[in-house]
Amino acid sequence: EKGTYPHYMLKEIDEQPAVVRKIVQTYRNEQGDLNIDEGIVKAMNDADRIYIIAAGTSYHAGLVGKQFIEKLAKVPVEVHISSEFGYNMPLLSEKPLFIFISQSGETADSRAVLVEIKELGYKALTITNVPGSTLSREADYTLLLHAGPEIAVASTKAYTAQLAVLAILAEVTAKSRGMNVDFDLTQELGIVANAMDVLCGAKEEFEEIAREYLATTRNCFFIGRGIDFYVGLEGALKLKEISYIQAEGFAGGELKHGTIALIENGTPVVALATQESVNLSIRGNVKEVAARGANPCIISMKGLETDEDRFVIPEVHGLLTPLISVIPLQLISYYAALHRECDVDKPRNLAKSVTVE
Ligand code: M6R
Repeated sequence: EKGTYPHYMLKEIDEQPAVVRKIVQTYRNEQGDLNIDEGIVKAMNDADRIYIIAAGTSYHAGLVGKQFIEKLAKVPVEVHISSEFGYNMPLLSEKPLFIFISQSGETADSRAVLVEIKELGYKALTITNVPGSTLSREADYTLLLHAGPEIAVASTKAYTAQLAVLAILAEVTAKSRGMNVDFDLTQELGIVANAMDVLCGAKEEFEEIAREYLATTRNCFFIGRGIDFYVGLEGALKLKEISYIQAEGFAGGELKHGTIALIENGTPVVALATQESVNLSIRGNVKEVAARGANPCIISMKGLETDEDRFVIPEVHGLLTPLISVIPLQLISYYAALHRECDVDKPRNLAKSVTVE
């Protein structure tokens, strides 16, 4: 039930801090350590390469998940769009493990890949929000998101839950492989949940940003580098699907190779700057688009901010920024859709789960 909320989407955005706390609680053992089913950890350790298969928002979560797994557990990861994988299968490694990420567990494109790789005799892990869903039943292992039902077509809390579970999977695998993890993930996810509370409490700011940048625009670009680029892809998808504004996410450095031709006077460009290592270069990209008339909206992280930034998110661990930098983008999309009188929870042409290939 959406209770006093005008839309499920807004309720689900607000639930994110509680979902992250619930996930940490659920995946902790009696000693207080993060813990994953032994069979899954063994499958992760037996694999020489991990193939993440997903669609839409879950694919965007996979792109971030690759960073978690490669950086912490040092296992190579490929991320594939499920509808492409079937007829465009890459040369597989000797001992692949497949991870299917799906909020609903019912996405037909992903299921088709699962059927195919099971026929080839490979192992599969499904990360889903729905116990007993098709992808969960047909895989060897399941990790649940514990996000509660997600009703709005635009996925929000499932994305952050997927990231939290992927981070835990990466950390537990890393530790089991004797890799040094130089931070306490439980503590860092607690900091993330608190930062999410701050962002969910700043709705008026995001409504104002949506009004200022998106009220009448035809299009909008999201730029970032590294994991900020992946969050930008998710921000663009959110904006497209509920406000019908044409939106695209781009890697900051790729702009000058073509896309910058689309920048006109007043084109909104949302730039994410949460990564210290690329802070200067993304700001350089902002200058490039601003010089061509764009209306930049920089969202940075505390510690990296400058006077030109439109919003500064609280500081969290550098690897975990996608869990919070996505919230401004979700809320900006929500308000942009509201201002344009779109049906936020049930956008045109879309179904909550896509059960046809
Ligand atoms: O249930 P799934 O995670 O497999 O769904 C995948 C996509 O259809 C889904 O994420 C879609 O892109 C959302 N509407 C995005 O908000």
